[in-house]
Amino acid sequence: MSKLSPDSIQQDQMWMQFALAEAETAIYRTRPNPAVGCVIVKQHQIVGRGATAPVGGSHAEVFALKQAGDQVQGATAYVTLEPCAHYGRTPPCANGLVEAGISRVVIACSDPNPLVAGKGVQILKNAGIEVLQGVCEAQAAAQNRGFLKAIATGMPYVRLKVASSLDGRTAMASGESKWITGTEARQDVQHWRAISGVVITGIETVLADDCQLNVRQLAGIDISSIVQPKRLVLDRQGRLPLNAKILNVPETVMVMGPFRQELADLGVLQFSVQPLTDLLQRLATQHHIYDVLVEAGATLSTAFLQARLVDEMISYVAPTFLGQTARAMFNAEFNRMAEQLRFKLIDVTQLGNDVRLRLIPSQETV
Ligand SMILES: NC(=O)c1ccc[n+]([C@@H]2O[C@H](COP(=O)([O-])OP(=O)(O)OC[C@H]3O[C@@H](n4cnc5c(N)ncnc54)[C@H](OP(=O)(O)O)[C@@H]3O)[C@@H](O)[C@H]2O)c1
Repeated sequence: MSKLSPDSIQQDQMWMQFALAEAETAIYRTRPNPAVGCVIVKQHQIVGRGATAPVGGSHAEVFALKQAGDQVQGATAYVTLEPCAHYGRTPPCANGLVEAGISRVVIACSDPNPLVAGKGVQILKNAGIEVLQGVCEAQAAAQNRGFLKAIATGMPYVRLKVASSLDGRTAMASGESKWITGTEARQDVQHWRAISGVVITGIETVLADDCQLNVRQLAGIDISSIVQPKRLVLDRQGRLPLNAKILNVPETVMVMGPFRQELADLGVLQFSVQPLTDLLQRLATQHHIYDVLVEAGATLSTAFLQARLVDEMISYVAPTFLGQTARAMFNAEFNRMAEQLRFKLIDVTQLGNDVRLRLIPSQETV
């Protein structure tokens, strides 16, 4: 392959930003498919653009090719995920790009799906198309974290959300917890729910808050156009009341607990009691749920953390003290510094009067 000049690398990165922006428009509506963006560029102009349609619809490349029409000949396609090589619900996009007469394809992220992995690129190369991979790869991977992890490992990407006071408290001793954080932080939680295939909670949170854990508002987005996350209640003793608000839309609720006929009659999907690891694996491999958001109290949050099942913690910190009788965010008992669970900070954002920390587990000690 010819060596690229710094100028052409910059150009490729710039056009890939447009493809990433296309993908971003699809992140709430393509699940369980990944959100992919594509732009077709000819003579320094975008002549076609597209993003993945909801399940059953076309892939990003199809829309972009259609829009570009005759101008495809000799153009470059920028795609955020390797074009598919298999007949699924739609024909392979790699073939579509070849048939349309594209000259060059720039790809951000490879597809770990064994049906695609490298095969999409091979189809393009066999047809004499120049292919460049890995442009803005980290950004593209971040748009489809769960999909990429689940296809590669069989386990979903787990985010744990916690809203706490400055003294690390998440609820009063009575269970009262509305509200610790302000509107902006609570609004931000809606985004993380909306990119998740499921929101998992513990039965005590449902009993205390009668929460619904659905997506109610996303700035600038018509809520009816998004795929709502499932809500999964972990309830090993079968205590979920039939009048709980979460059961208002029972077909989107899942419960892990002893089998209950009345829940089955409502259309609730039930899982037998099992270890968290098995449950997560089942969600990914059998239910195509690749992004999990845990929104629970300290008991279940601690269980996820201690089982090392959390890939990312989203911690909202409000500038307030709730005092030592309020409930702590984490309830394991450690005696030695060596036992601590340490995280690496990957992002800090101020939301109104609160701060959002995004953290990933760290192996490092202080
Ligand atoms: N600030 C925040 O971010 C936030 C978020 C959510 C909730 N909260 C607050 O947290 C409080 C409730 O906290 P909590 O700690 O009592 O309840 P929780 O963590 O929501 O639920 C705990 C229950 O989950 C069940 N469970 C099922 N599988 C489990 C497993 N593998 N490991 C551990 N537990 C499992 C257990 O009940 P069974 O044994 O009966 O199954 C356990 O008692 C509420 O006041 C709520 O408002 C705060």
